[in-house]
Amino acid sequence: MQRLLLILFAACGVARADTIAVPADAPPVYMKECGECHVAYPPQLLDAGDWKNVMDNLHAHYGDNAVIGEQARQEITDFLTRNADSNGYSAGANSMRSPLPKLTRTGWFRHAHIKITNTLWTGNQVRSRSNCGACHMRAEQGSFQENEIRMPGDPRRERGE
Ligand code: HEC
Ligand code: HEC
Repeated sequence: MQRLLLILFAACGVARADTIAVPADAPPVYMKECGECHVAYPPQLLDAGDWKNVMDNLHAHYGDNAVIGEQARQEITDFLTRNADSNGYSAGANSMRSPLPKLTRTGWFRHAHIKITNTLWTGNQVRSRSNCGACHMRAEQGSFQENEIRMPGDPRRERGE
């Protein structure tokens, strides 16, 4: 019995890492409206309350105006809250310093990117942690698998090794 449980936990671990992606059944309106200025982020990285906060404040969106039609806003809000974090990935997203949550501020994000230096984050090839596509080659398609990473300026990655 104990062995069976261990195997089950191991299997869940794999499934868990794999779920950080935009689900294939995401409404096209999400990829279009929320993938215009940055990539459409995986919904699992913020919890439902965070997403509601983001979607209720599109007029004051991280210093930008991201207002969209009401029907699209509703459809996207439903999609994001339905697929929101339930594993703790979003812990630490909120801070006193800004009214909106940031998935790039979470403990999960920092831990997953622990090897990346500040110089690289702020250099002109990446510019911002929110610019996932600078390193994740298929971020625009909503995919963040390990074999799809290419670090800017790393010739080994450029050759696809
Ligand atoms: C008009 C441009 C624009 C559109 C459209 C837009 N955003 Fe953003 N978004 C931004 C900017 C600018 C930032 C701040 C990026 C940074 O800090 O580098 C941002 C940041 C974010 C962040 C925080 C990223 C982080 O660093 O953790 C989330 C979450 C987000 N947007 C969600 C959305 C969603 C959901 C939509 C669709 C409803 C959307 N955005 C549409 C411009 C936009
Ligand atoms: C400067 C390059 C860079 C940027 C920008 C970047 N990442 Fe990553 N990301 C990496 C690297 C490198 C790894 C693999 C780290 C390792 O294996 O040690 C990684 C790992 C990941 C993983 C896999 C974690 C795991 O354990 O399987 C996810 C998911 C991810 N990043 C999502 C994002 C998202 C979402 C954004 C944007 C909000 C982003 N990344 C921005 C370089 C980047």
